[in-house]
Amino acid sequence: MTPAIGSSPTRVDGPAKLRGRAPYAMEHPLLDALHAFPIQATIARGRIGAIDTREAETMDGVVAVLTHLNAPRLAADDDNELFILQNDEVAFRGQLIGVVVATSPEVAREAAARVRVSYDEIPADVVFDADRDDLYAPEDVSGGFATDTTIGDVEKALDLAPVTVDQTYTTAMVHNNPMEPHATIAHWTEDGLVLYDSTQGPHVVRSTLAPLFGLEPEQVHVIAPYVGGGFGSKGEPHANIVLAAMAARFTGGKPLKLALTRQQLFSLAGYRTPSVQRIRLGAHHDGTLTALSHDVVQQVSKVKEFAEQTTIVSRVMYASGTRATTHRFAALDVPVSSWMRAPGHCPGMYAAETAMDELAVELGMDPIALRIHNEPEVDPESGRPFSSRGLVECLRTGARRFGWADRDPEPRSRRDGRWLVGSGVAAATYPADVNPGNSARVRFTGGRYEVAIDAMDIGTGTWTTLGQIAADALGVTGDRIDLRIGDSRLPAGTVAGGSSGMASWGSAVVAAAEDFRRRYGDDPADGAETTVETSKDPARENFSTHAFGAHFVEVRVDTDTAEIRVPRVVSVFGAGRIINPRTARSQFIGGITMGIGMALHEESVFDTRFGEVVNHDLAGYHVPVNADIGEIDVSWIDEHDPHVNPMGAKGIGEIGIVGSAAAVGNAIYHATGVRVRHVPIHLEDLL
Ligand code: MOS
Repeated sequence: MTPAIGSSPTRVDGPAKLRGRAPYAMEHPLLDALHAFPIQATIARGRIGAIDTREAETMDGVVAVLTHLNAPRLAADDDNELFILQNDEVAFRGQLIGVVVATSPEVAREAAARVRVSYDEIPADVVFDADRDDLYAPEDVSGGFATDTTIGDVEKALDLAPVTVDQTYTTAMVHNNPMEPHATIAHWTEDGLVLYDSTQGPHVVRSTLAPLFGLEPEQVHVIAPYVGGGFGSKGEPHANIVLAAMAARFTGGKPLKLALTRQQLFSLAGYRTPSVQRIRLGAHHDGTLTALSHDVVQQVSKVKEFAEQTTIVSRVMYASGTRATTHRFAALDVPVSSWMRAPGHCPGMYAAETAMDELAVELGMDPIALRIHNEPEVDPESGRPFSSRGLVECLRTGARRFGWADRDPEPRSRRDGRWLVGSGVAAATYPADVNPGNSARVRFTGGRYEVAIDAMDIGTGTWTTLGQIAADALGVTGDRIDLRIGDSRLPAGTVAGGSSGMASWGSAVVAAAEDFRRRYGDDPADGAETTVETSKDPARENFSTHAFGAHFVEVRVDTDTAEIRVPRVVSVFGAGRIINPRTARSQFIGGITMGIGMALHEESVFDTRFGEVVNHDLAGYHVPVNADIGEIDVSWIDEHDPHVNPMGAKGIGEIGIVGSAAAVGNAIYHATGVRVRHVPIHLEDLL
C-alpha cells in the first residue's frame, strides 16, 4: 500500500468550509443565545471612580450590565490578565472593565457605549525605550530558556577581531490578525461550563479556566472543531473567554455569545512586543566568526510578563569562538504581549541575519559562503549533536533554484528601467519540539477506525494530515479512518503552537495505533479499543532538534518613488519528512508572506499619549494582500531524521516567517545600497 504520509490529499474539511457547514465558534447553533459586548477602559492607568449603568440598563433588550461592582468573584488570582472585573484598578488602556449582555449583539454594543465611566487617572508609563535605567532581567525567558548565556570572552574577542559589525536593529510592535477574531459561546449547564471557543488548544483553555471558576478541569468542556487562524494569539486563553464565562454565569442558564471586534483584538489578544537588538560580530578576514554577541530589549506588560526568547536563535545558528546573549525588558502600563508566529525566533533572526549580511559586506565575502564557513559541527551552546541540520543543503539548493551564481554582489549594480533590482539571502531555523502529555485513542467500530485526540486544526490542515499519520500507523487507507479532534473531552492534546502540534499529536497517534495492532492485530473485533499517553522520549534529549531553511528574495525598488516590490522568493527547508506536501507548502507560503509583511507592511502605531494602538483595524494596519506577493517558490530537501519523532517530521508552522524579513531587507540593501536597520521598511527610508 502506498503510504499516506507524503501524499497530498486535499483538505477533508474543505468542502464543508466552502459550503459554510463547518461551524466556527460563533456559528454553533444554540437556540435563544444572549449576546455580550465588552466595556473597555479608556485610560492607561488609574482607578475607576464611578460607573453609571442606568441608561444602558433601561434599554430594550438589555439583560444585564456587569462591572467590578456586581461581577461574580473569580476563585483564583494568579493571572492578572485574566483576573478581570474583580477590583477598580485599570492597568492598561483597553482593559476589560465591564460587559453588557443583551438579546441581540446590536443592542449589547449600543448599550455598552452608553455606560459612563469616570476615572481617577494616574500618569501611565507607556514609553518603550531601550535606554531606560529600569530594565530588568527575568529569571528565565519564555520557553524556560536561560535569560543570558556566555561562552568565552566576547569583549576581548571583539577587540581583537580584524573585522567587526556593531549595529542596532529594531522591530515594530505587531499584532496577530487571524481571519476569525477571538470568539466564545459560554454555556453553563448542570455539568459545568461548556465553551465553544476559537482557540489553539481546548485542553489549555480547560486547564486555565477551571481554577478561575472553582471547577475541576473535567467540568469545563471546550469545543473547537474549526478555527480561523490564531498565529499564537489563541495559544493561551485571553480575558475575553473569562468575560464570556463570567457573564454567562451571571445571566443564568442561557448560552452567551461574545465575539471580539477586530479593534478589540489590538488590546486584548496579545501582540509581538517591539524589540531593540544590538548585534556585534567579530571575524577573521577569512570569515571565521570569533565573537557573536546578541542583546535584546523588549517591553512587557506590568499585568503579565511575556519575556520573549529573542536571542536564543544566536545560540544555535553559527560556530563562533566566543558568544554572549542577553534579554532585558521594560515593564510598562501596556496591554499584555504574547505569542505571535515564531515568538523570539522571528524578531531575533531578523536582526541576526541582517547582521550576517552586513558582515559579509564588510568582509567582501558572499553571504552564503560566510554562513557555510561558520556552520557548527554540534549545537554551539549545548554541545549536543544536531539530530539533522539541513542549513547548508538548503542554502546550496536555494542558490541553484534562485540563480544566485549570476549575482553581482555590488549594491545598485542592476537596473531595469526605473527599477533598481537586488537580491538577498537569509537563513531560517525553528525548534523541532514534541510535547509530552498527549494521549490518543483508537477504537474499531463498524469496520472503521475512530482515532481521537484533542488536537486542533487552526486552518493548517490537521483534519487531513493527522488522518494520514493514523492511516499509515494502522496500516489502512485513509478512507477507513474517522478522526475526532478539537474537543477537550477527547484524550489530551497539547496546544497547536510552537510548531509542535503535528509532531506531538502524531507521536501519540502512532503510539496508540502500534499498541492497538499489538493487542488486536489487523483484523480487530468490533469495539476493540486502546488509549496511549506519550511521555518524554529520553533518547531525544541527546540531540539538538531544529528545522532549518534558507530564503532568497528578489526586490525591485522604484528609483523615483522608492516603491518596493517583491516579485520573487525562493525558500528551501530542511524539516524532516513532509506529511502532506500540499498543506505544508501552504504553511510555508503563509509564513513567508507574513515575513514580507513584517519587512514592509505590518506596524502597530502606538500613541504614547493615550497608551493605545491607533491603527487598530485592517484599514490602518497593513498586511500583505495578493497584489503585494509575487512568486513564492517553496521546496524542501530530502531529510530523514529518525530522532525527532516516529514520523520523522519537524514542525513547519513557523519557520517560514523566520528570517524572511531579513532576506527582504538584505535584498533592499543590495538593490539600493541603503541599509535600513528597522522593520517595517518604509519608502521614506530609501529616499
Ligand atoms: Mo505559535 S506563535 O507558537 O501559536
